[in-house]
This record gives sequence, C-alpha cells and structure tokens, in this order.
Amino acid sequence: ISQSDINSEGHLTIGGCDAVSLAHQFGTPLVVYDVNQIKSQIEHFQEVFKNNDVEYAVCYASKAFANTAMYQLVDSMDCHVDVVSAGEMSMALHAGFPAEHMTFHGNNKSRAELQMAIDNHVGVIALDNFHEIDLLNEVLESSDAKTKVMMRITPGISAHTHEFIQTGQVDSKFGFDLESGEAEQALQAVLKHPRMDLIGIHSHIGSQIFELNGFELAAEKLVQLAADWKQRFEYEARVIDVGGGFGIRYTEDDRPLQPEQFVDAIIKTIKQASQAHGLTTPAVWIEPGRSIVGPAGYNLYTIGSRKDVKGIRSYVAVDGGMGDNIRPALYEAKYEAVVANRPEAEIVEHVHLAGKYCESGDILIDDLPLPETHPGDVVVMFDTGAYGYSMASNYNLNPKPAIVFVEDGKATLVTRRETPADLERLDFGLDGK
Ligand code: LLP
Repeated sequence: ISQSDINSEGHLTIGGCDAVSLAHQFGTPLVVYDVNQIKSQIEHFQEVFKNNDVEYAVCYASKAFANTAMYQLVDSMDCHVDVVSAGEMSMALHAGFPAEHMTFHGNNKSRAELQMAIDNHVGVIALDNFHEIDLLNEVLESSDAKTKVMMRITPGISAHTHEFIQTGQVDSKFGFDLESGEAEQALQAVLKHPRMDLIGIHSHIGSQIFELNGFELAAEKLVQLAADWKQRFEYEARVIDVGGGFGIRYTEDDRPLQPEQFVDAIIKTIKQASQAHGLTTPAVWIEPGRSIVGPAGYNLYTIGSRKDVKGIRSYVAVDGGMGDNIRPALYEAKYEAVVANRPEAEIVEHVHLAGKYCESGDILIDDLPLPETHPGDVVVMFDTGAYGYSMASNYNLNPKPAIVFVEDGKATLVTRRETPADLERLDFGLDGK
C-alpha cells in the first residue's frame, strides 16, 4: 500500500474513493475496479508494439472479466476482445463493441454460436478442430458468407507459472496438434474452403506464467511453422497470435516480469525469426486477460462472526466467499487483504479469512495477518479482478455482488447486485407455471 492510497481519515482509497464509503454506499460483498489501472495496463501493452514498430492487436480475453461497461471501456481504448461463448459475444454486441474487433475462441463452438458470429460479422473465428471446420463451412455456405479465420495450434509447449514443459504432443483439449501432422491437415482443409480467409496462426500456452522462455519458444515455433507453410503450400500467415497468460503478482511470493516485458520479448523473437526465415514480419497479436484486469480489481467484504479454535487457529468470517471468488478453493490461489478503515494498524494475529458458504473449504485467505478487528470492519482483498466475478456462482442461492467502477474519486455502479427475485426469475413452480 502506498501512502497516497490512504486518505486523511486513515482509510484505504481505491481510484480516489474511500473504500469504507464504497462499502457503505453500495453494500458488500462488492467488486470494485480502478478504471485508470485497466486503462494504463492496456496502454502499456499498446506502447510496446508502437515502440517496436510492428502491426498488432491487443485482444482483451474477456473471460477474465466481462460486463457491459468493461466492453465499452475496452473499445474506447481501441483494444480488441476475445470472446468464447454466445454469452460473451452477445454482451459485447449489446455494449456496442464493434464485431470486427472480436475473435471468437472455443473448443466446442455450437452451430448456433458460429451462425451468430457470422450473422454479426465477428472479425475472426479461431478454428480449433476438424469438426468445427466442417460446421463453419456449412454455416458459411448456407448464409452465402465469408469470414476470416485463425488456426489454433498446440505448439508442444505448455507453461504453468514457474515451469514450462516442452513435449512433442501436449495433452490438451484445445487446438490442432503440431507434432502429429494435425495442423498441416487442418491447413489443407482450410485452404480448400474459399469462404475462409486464414489470416494466421494462434497458440496459447497457459496462464499466470512468470517466465519468458515459454513465450519465446512458442513464438519461434509459430514463425517456423509459417515459414514451412509458405515454402510448401505457398500460404503466407499475416498474423501470429501468441495468446495470453502473462502472470501478475498476487502475493510477495510472486515475482513476475512486467507484462510489457513479456510482449517486448515476444515481438523481438517474432521479428528475428521472421528475418532468419526470410519472411515479412507478420502482425503480432496477444490476448491478455488476467494482466489487464487482475490488479485493477478489489473485493470488499464486511466482517461478521468469529470462531476461535483453542490452540489451533481463529476463523474470521466475511459476507462473501467462494461464490464471488472460487479461486482459493479451486486452485489454492493466494491473495492479500487489509482492513480498509485501518490498513496500517499493528498486526496482532494471523487468522483464516472464512467465507459464508456452507463448505469447510470456503476459506478466502489462510493465515491472514490482521490488526484487531470487529464485526462491521471492511476487508479489502487485492488483485481479485481476473476470474473472480467471471467465475462467480449462486451457490447457496447467494446473489452475485454489485460491481462499481471508480475513477478519479468518482464511483459508478456498473452492475447492480443480484436480488432473490433475480434468482427466481427462471423458475416455474411445481405446477409448471
Ligand atoms: N487466450 C486464450 C485462448 C485463453 O484460453 C486464455 C485463458 C487467455 C487468452 C487469457 O489468459 P490470461 O492472460 O488471462 O492468463 N480460471 C483460471 C484461468 C483460466 C485461463 C483460461 N484461458 C484462473 O482463475 O486462474
């Protein structure tokens, strides 16, 4: 926490707004995004490309967090999006997001979803498998339409946080395998379909990655493939898309590079490899999700009950939990948090910050250092902006939280809190009425 984030009352501020006041005004649990942090992260990415004088697209992976305001914010930054379902596509369109700036991903897109993408002129469809090539061709023929496509391949590199593995075949449900010749077969199939304009090659090697090597290797492999395909099939890739996965800092144990450093290395690798293979440098596309919204998001909770298990530990419970952030329970993800009304007070104990869900595993943070706390205190959990709200559920029929965007001291409610009526809206009674 920097001193500039603490106001004269000694409260933590987010985007110039007092976190305690936000909790009181909008209620808790509350999801807060600092708009300037989102904007500056997108700008950082864009600047790296501009400095390297290369054609590019930054496609925000909206699975990390999507609502109408977010799609509008992303569009206002001239940033593209990656959508992975009719739901994301539909909300982006509803937000007025230009369809030509969307890439549609997914390993099992339905005919209806492909039809929707074609009807709405979605920019690029990322082809994932042979079934989809056929399905898309049928949709294109029956609609007398054409589309740009990109081919997702599994490059034989899979990165996860600290280590990455390089194997011939990657055991993954996504994309065309490189080693087995699947990718080449797919190329031949796509080139036979005049309604598909193959703009380039895509890979995504993992998420929350800390090291450069995996990205450099993947980038190099994609360029090598492009060179091979040019030589043997006279097909020239105009785009190399290396996906997302740039890691962020959740706790002091995480020491990732700056996301911009990843991108800089990727661009350099692609430029060098293209030159070495006698190719014109293709456009470089990336699809960051977590690194754009993760650090910009804050979850606010109110402290309620407490249980002291003598000689073992204490549980301090808040009014949210695994329904609004499944990541600790699902991935053992770690987070940091402070008490908003005295973020710098002396630490007196370490407790388990427990959620309110009926499940023992619903612990948001293990061994959280806390000052003396009381019911009613507001806890701010940091870096919750990626895969928090977007993976939220209604477990225990708890309504999903509200979302507030803050910027320069101004707070705007951009998604209202769910109510019990929202949860009942799909139900008919026993009589089917
Ligand atoms: N592009 C593709 C094709 C992807 O599959 C993903 C993420 C991204 C881009 C964005 O990756 P990012 O920059 O956000 O790492 N729920 C998990 C993360 C799942 C990531 C899935 N794919 C979590 O909470 O850690």
